[in-house]
Amino acid sequence: MKKRILSGMRPTGKLHLGHLAGALKNWVEMQDKYDCFYMVADYHALMSEYENPSAMKDNIIDNVADFIACGIDPEKSVIFVQSDVPEHLELYMILSAITPLSWLERCPTYKEQLREVEGRDLTTYAFLGYPVLQAADILIYKANAVPVGEDQLPHLELTREITRRFRHFYKKEIFPEPEGILTETPRLLGIDNRKMSKSYGNAVNLSDSPDEIKKKIMTMVTDPERIKRQDPGHPDICNVFFYYKFFFPSLSETLAKDCRVAKIGCVEDKGKLAECIIELLRPIQERRNKLLKDREGLEAILEKGAGKARQVAQETLSEVKKAVGI
Ligand code: TRP
Repeated sequence: MKKRILSGMRPTGKLHLGHLAGALKNWVEMQDKYDCFYMVADYHALMSEYENPSAMKDNIIDNVADFIACGIDPEKSVIFVQSDVPEHLELYMILSAITPLSWLERCPTYKEQLREVEGRDLTTYAFLGYPVLQAADILIYKANAVPVGEDQLPHLELTREITRRFRHFYKKEIFPEPEGILTETPRLLGIDNRKMSKSYGNAVNLSDSPDEIKKKIMTMVTDPERIKRQDPGHPDICNVFFYYKFFFPSLSETLAKDCRVAKIGCVEDKGKLAECIIELLRPIQERRNKLLKDREGLEAILEKGAGKARQVAQETLSEVKKAVGI
């Protein structure tokens, strides 16, 4: 029997190269080895977008089109929307009952978000419980592993702690303790060298037009010590080189060599990178546009996914209720 994985993304906007590098590429590769559940976490998105959630429905369809265009195959993997499987919320309630407040209050992602996120009031009841809903997402499918970025590790650790506490109280081995599967590559930075994020406006979206891609890539920050064209460059500290290394490894060695001896300049280097990214995204965008022309087709895929997900979720939930005695 294949091991099961679950992972999810919040539908808060367009997907970008960071999602492709950090998650989607892995998700695609895992499809043959694991029994995969890929979820659009709209309730998690609601926790931060509650003041203006009107774009969420469109974002869900847009993100799912990107999933499939990037190679997630709805015949192999279960693709579904969190709110289509209400069993998550029932398990979330039960897990909330056994989760000490102190575990949530000390969660580093919670403290960081309260500090860093601007323009949103995240001091809500639901936001504190964010990781408990995430635990329910994972446990309701009895997932053995969760592919995540480093930033999500505290949530996974909390999930494991909740699993152990459930076992302690109810003496039932319903849930395996899920492992984190970390992405090998370090995080892809945005065009300004900060973390790639929609809110920083520094992301290259999977749906950007060739012109937009070119414009964005040409503003990328390179080696700050390379002032004149003749100066030798330091590819190892250059984000442009990092993009080559990640997306186009066969080109990266020659370009690094040429950069170190000032045979190629930053402008030319970035122009080339823009062309490569445009070519990389072209087939993805073709598939994406075709999928988006048939919105009903996408909705049917999600409906089918929700059906498969619910079947598993309902079974787990009835085991859980029996164990708890409700
Ligand atoms: N919190 C995750 C993120 O922001 C999204 C998410 C929700 C998730 N539920 C999940 C990821 C369950 C993995 C497993 O990226």
